[in-house]
Amino acid sequence: MKLVVGLLVLVELSWGITNNADLIWYDRETGEPHNYVAREPTPEGLLQTEKIVVNQKFSILWEVKFAFFDNLEALMIDDCGINEIKPNTFRDLKPLTNLSLTFNHIREIKEGVFNFVQVKNLNFSHNRLAIIGARAFDNMQALETITLDFNELKNWNGDWFFNCSRLATVSLTHNFLEEIPANAFKNFWKDRDTVNIYLSYNKIETVDRDAFAEVGKFGDLFLDWNDLPRVDGHIFGKLTSVEHLNLNGDSLRCLSEEFIGNVLNKTNLVSVQGNPFKCECLKELRNREGRIRARVQLSQEQTVDC
Ligand SMILES: *[C@@H]1O[C@H](CO)[C@@H](O)[C@H](O)[C@H]1NC(C)=O
Ligand SMILES: *[C@@H]1O[C@H](CO)[C@@H](O)[C@H](O)[C@H]1NC(C)=O
Ligand SMILES: *[C@@H]1O[C@H](CO)[C@@H](O)[C@H](O)[C@H]1NC(C)=O
Ligand SMILES: *[C@@H]1O[C@H](CO)[C@@H](O)[C@H](O)[C@H]1NC(C)=O
Repeated sequence: MKLVVGLLVLVELSWGITNNADLIWYDRETGEPHNYVAREPTPEGLLQTEKIVVNQKFSILWEVKFAFFDNLEALMIDDCGINEIKPNTFRDLKPLTNLSLTFNHIREIKEGVFNFVQVKNLNFSHNRLAIIGARAFDNMQALETITLDFNELKNWNGDWFFNCSRLATVSLTHNFLEEIPANAFKNFWKDRDTVNIYLSYNKIETVDRDAFAEVGKFGDLFLDWNDLPRVDGHIFGKLTSVEHLNLNGDSLRCLSEEFIGNVLNKTNLVSVQGNPFKCECLKELRNREGRIRARVQLSQEQTVDC
C-alpha cells in the first residue's frame, strides 16, 4: 500500500519538491465522489475506481504512476495549471477510455508523451498549443477521437497520427490554421471507413489541391467560419464521398463549374450560408440544384436578396 501513496509524482519546478496529488475519485459501485488528500493512506475503493479527477495545481506533469489502476476508464487532469508534460509521463497508464487535459496552459506536445499510450478519447481543448511534434501521436493504436479545440495551432501537419489506425474524429476548431497542405490526411482511413474533421473557426485561406489525395470517405468535413475565397474544383481528387461539407461563413463569392460538377457530385449536403455570394452565382446554383447530388443549404437572406 505504501507504493500507492506515490501514485502521482509531481515536481514543483522552483523547489524541486516531489509531491503527491489531491484527487477526487468515484466509487466503482455507487458512483459517489470521494476526496483523497495527498499523502493520506489509500482508502478502500480507490484502487478499483473507474474515474479520477486530479484536484490540484502544479506546473509540470511528470511521471504519473498509474500502473495500480486496473479499472480506470477516465482520467481528468483539467484546469490544473499545467504548463508542460514531460515525455513518458503516461507510460504506466493502462488502456483508458478518456484522458482529458483541458483548460491548462500547455504550449507544446513533444514526441514521447503520448506514443503508444492506449487512450480512446484524448481531449486537449482550451490550452495554448502552438507546437505539436510531427511524431507526437505516432502509434496510438486505440485513439478514436482527438479534440484540440481552442488552441493556437497555425499549421496542420500531414505526418501526424502515423499508425493511429482507429482514428475517426479530429476536432481542431478555434485555432489559427491558415492552410490545409497537400496530403494532409495520408495517415487516415487505415482501419476506418469514415472520418470526421472539424476545422471550424480557423483562418484557412487555402486548401491545397492535393489536400485530399486519399481514397476515403468523410462524414463531416467542416471548414466553416474560415476565410476561404475559393475552393479548387478538383480538390476531392480520389475521395469517395462526403456526407456534409460545411462552408458556412467563408468568403466564397462563387462556386466554379468544376466545383459544382466534381466536388458537389461527391457530397450529400453542402452548407454555404453566410458567404458573400454574387447574385448570378446563387441563381446558377439554384438552377442546378435538382441535377447535382448535393443538397445545398443556403440562408434565407441569400435567397431573398436575388
Ligand atoms: C468519455 O467521454 C465521452 C465524450 O465526452 C463521454 O460521452 C463518455 O461518457 C466518457 N466515458 C467515460 C467512461 O467517462
Ligand atoms: C473536451 O473538453 C471540453 C472542455 O471541457 C468540452 O467542452 C468538450 O465537450 C470535450 N470534448 C469531448 C469530445 O469530450
Ligand atoms: C503500430 O503500432 C503497434 C503498436 O501499437 C506496433 O506493434 C506496430 O508495429 C506499429 N506499426 C508500424 C507500421 O509502425
Ligand atoms: C454527376 O453525377 C451525375 C449522376 O451520377 C452524373 O450523371 C454526372 O455526369 C456527374 N457530373 C460530373 C461532372 O461528373
